[in-house]
Amino acid sequence: MASPRQIVQPFVHRIEEMERLDGVARPLAVGAGRSTRATPVKNALSGTWLGHPLHPVLTDLPIGAWTMAAVLDVAGGSPSAGAARRLVGTGAVAALPAAAAGWADWSDTYGADQRVGLVHALGNVAATFLQMGSYLCRRRGHRGAGVALSAVALGAVTVTGYLGGHLSYIRGVGVNHTAFEEPVTDWVDVASLDDLPPDGRPLRALARGVPVMLVRRAGEDVIALSATCTHAGGPLDEGKVLDGSVRCPWHGSVFRLADGRVLRGPASTTQPVWDARIEGERVEVRSGR
Ligand code: FES
Repeated sequence: MASPRQIVQPFVHRIEEMERLDGVARPLAVGAGRSTRATPVKNALSGTWLGHPLHPVLTDLPIGAWTMAAVLDVAGGSPSAGAARRLVGTGAVAALPAAAAGWADWSDTYGADQRVGLVHALGNVAATFLQMGSYLCRRRGHRGAGVALSAVALGAVTVTGYLGGHLSYIRGVGVNHTAFEEPVTDWVDVASLDDLPPDGRPLRALARGVPVMLVRRAGEDVIALSATCTHAGGPLDEGKVLDGSVRCPWHGSVFRLADGRVLRGPASTTQPVWDARIEGERVEVRSGR
C-alpha cells in the first residue's frame, strides 16, 4: 500500500510543473501586485508593521473556527447547532483578511511557487464559498446539508493547508532568508576603504562566507548590512541607496541603513545590521549585537 508521502508528493510536484497554469497565474499575479502596490497596503498585508508575515497568523482564525464547528457537528449534536453555525460564519468572515494577506504575498512569487500558490488560493476560495453556503443552509434549518458542505470545505482546507505548508517549509516562501547566516563574533577584514564608491553605492563583500553590503556615508563612516534580503534572498547590494535606506531590486522592500528596519514591504523581518569599523585603509565588520 502506498504511504501518504508517496501519494501527496507526486501530487504537489505535478502542480509545480503544470506550466499551463501560468496562463492564469501570471496575469492574476500582476493584478495582485498592482492592487497591493501602495506602501500602506503592502505594509499592512505583508505584516511589515508586525515584524512577522501576516498571512500565516490570519489563517489560524478561519481554520480554527471551521475545525471547532466540525467538532460540534460531530460531537455536539442538535444542542450545539447554533454555536456551530456561528463558528462557520465567523470562519467565513475571518477568511477574507487572510485571503487579502495571501493575495499580497502571492504577488511576489514566480514559477512553481506561483502555481502551487494559485491552487492553494483557488481551493481556499472554494472552501470559503462552501462554508458560506453551509451557513445559509444552517440558518434556513437545513442542518444536514450545512454539515455536509462544511465537511467538504474542511477537507479542501486540509489540502490547501498542506500546500501552504509546502510553500513555506519546502520551498522557503515567506521565511527569513538570513535566518541561517553564521554569526561572525570577531572583527574580520572584508574590503579596502578605496574599494567603496564615495557616492554611497553599495559594495558587496564576504565576511567568512556571509554576503555583506558596505555603504560609505558622508565623512569616513561605513555601514554594513547583510546583503541577502530577508524577504526572499534578493541581492541588496544591487539595490538603490537613497535617503538613508536601500531598496531591494527584486520586490522593492526598503530597509533603513541605520538599523535595518523595514520601511516598505513585502519584507517583514528587519535586515541584520553589522558592526563596521575602519582600521587604517581597511574595513572590518562583525555581526551586530
Ligand atoms: S527579495 Fe523580495 S524584496 Fe528583497
